[in-house]
Amino acid sequence: MAGITDSKFVKKLIPYGFDMVTIGGYNTDKKTINAGEKILKRDRREFRISEEDVINHIENEVNSIKEDFNALVSVNLRATTPDPIIEVSKIKELDVVELNAHCRQKELVSINCGQSMMKNQRYFEEFLKELIKKSKSKISVKIRANVEGVDTLNISKIINKLNTDFLHVDCMKPKYPHGDLEIIKKISENTDIFIIGNNSIVDLKSAKNMLYVGASGISIARAVLNGRLSFNLNEIKGKRNKRVF
Ligand SMILES: Cc1cc2nc3c(=O)[nH]c(=O)nc-3n(C[C@H](O)[C@H](O)[C@H](O)COP(=O)(O)O)c2cc1C
Repeated sequence: MAGITDSKFVKKLIPYGFDMVTIGGYNTDKKTINAGEKILKRDRREFRISEEDVINHIENEVNSIKEDFNALVSVNLRATTPDPIIEVSKIKELDVVELNAHCRQKELVSINCGQSMMKNQRYFEEFLKELIKKSKSKISVKIRANVEGVDTLNISKIINKLNTDFLHVDCMKPKYPHGDLEIIKKISENTDIFIIGNNSIVDLKSAKNMLYVGASGISIARAVLNGRLSFNLNEIKGKRNKRVF
């Protein structure tokens, strides 16, 4: 969560049973940093770090987590070319770079970043191929489901074929207060990628349901906004998941 999930924040949450934590999203080049400035002006939170400092800043954040915990660390990144993500991937202690093809703020979408990356399939594929070729860390791609003009299943199949390590799916269902578990089911039936299922996980029941429909793991954002989680993830680890609706 931009402007929120830094090392200090995620370190409070790891004891609830998270195997991996994601910091960011960070803006990594001139265009995304400029978009972040505009977003800040309308009172949304963003990390405000200069282009010169961003790699060092992320490295210090990653090291601070690794000094205290064994959890995997992923960093969510917004960029208009693969180069800054490749640079971040060289951080020694970092486990995963996550390409943000998810954010929907107009300032990011208008520079072909965030969810709009999925709308130009060729550009998206070329971007990912370059990243896969040169990344020194594992790669996750975060997408938003049900974006108008985007076939979520098709995009997931493309990412699967390119063979990234994780596909992180915010299965948002527009106009519904819960996620679209059907799309997670379809993706899991048609790919063999590690799916991190995301959206509206607020308790053990919703976490189990996400796993039941085929997600390989889950992620949680708004339910940890206050720096706490009201349940412990260790309770569902390693268990076969029964349907709990
Ligand atoms: C304040 C806020 C900031 C967010 N910033 C980012 C971001 O920078 N990158 C990203 O991939 N998702 C971002 N998200 C989306 C969340 O990571 C998550 O995908 C979404 O909130 C749905 O999951 P949830 O129902 O568990 O909250 C943000 C969400 C919130 C509420």
